[in-house]
Amino acid sequence: MNPELFVKVDRYIADLLTPQDNTLLATIESLDKAGMPQHSVSPNQGKMLYTLALLCNARNILEIGTLGGYSTIWLARALPDGGRLLSLEYNPVHAEVAQQNITQAGLESKVEIRVGKAIELLPQIESEISTSFDLIFIDADKPPYTEYFQWAVKLARPGALIVADNIIREGKVLDRHSKDEKVLGVQRFNRMLATNHDVTATILQTIGIKGYDGMAIAVVNRNSKSS
Ligand code: SAH
Ligand code: DHB
Ligand code: MG
Repeated sequence: MNPELFVKVDRYIADLLTPQDNTLLATIESLDKAGMPQHSVSPNQGKMLYTLALLCNARNILEIGTLGGYSTIWLARALPDGGRLLSLEYNPVHAEVAQQNITQAGLESKVEIRVGKAIELLPQIESEISTSFDLIFIDADKPPYTEYFQWAVKLARPGALIVADNIIREGKVLDRHSKDEKVLGVQRFNRMLATNHDVTATILQTIGIKGYDGMAIAVVNRNSKSS
């Protein structure tokens, strides 16, 4: 196993299939300028989210964890005319930077960023009428991932896709004695996923410029809800 090789191959794939336009490059730069963490998905992961959104004909997307809007831009670009993306972000500075990037991307008419703790915003979203999402991307704080997923299932249409980032954490999920709250959060999430009858799920290991991690991909079963 050679981490440098994985990085090189990630760049090779990106050079072939994921050309970075100025808007995406400026979005990544805006994080450093604002002192924000470089926790955006990688270019190839962004392209994967875009491809998944096309695959499920997403018209309504929910994202939990906006940061600077990098994944938001990828997902929103897959929306048809009239499509909408709602993104939840706790940190008002992150939301402000993301809003600028989304405006630069020309996506302001499709994207709404809502500022607050996701766990408090999700019940409000449920109480709004037109809330059946085709795709939900979970990428915020890790301890409540299980609760975010349960909300995602509630807010999803049958057949919808739920994607959750960072659930392998360099393989630290194997450590039964971990005291890292992020590891504990995703271990609990992965156990829940294994016993959840509302979805059919798998986990993809992700490796490349963002290191070693994983993404859960879950489809909400068509017979799981009365709708
Ligand atoms: N999806 C982004 C990266 C998100 S990083 C991308 O790939 O481009 C995680 C984000 O979740 C951070 O901006 C962080 O401020 C936000 N966050 C942390 N706790 C949160 C909470 N309780 N509710 C909503 N957002 C939260
Ligand atoms: C972390 C969070 C992320 O969403 C990510 O993609 C990478 C790391 C983190 O909190 O450590
Ligand atoms: Mg992430």
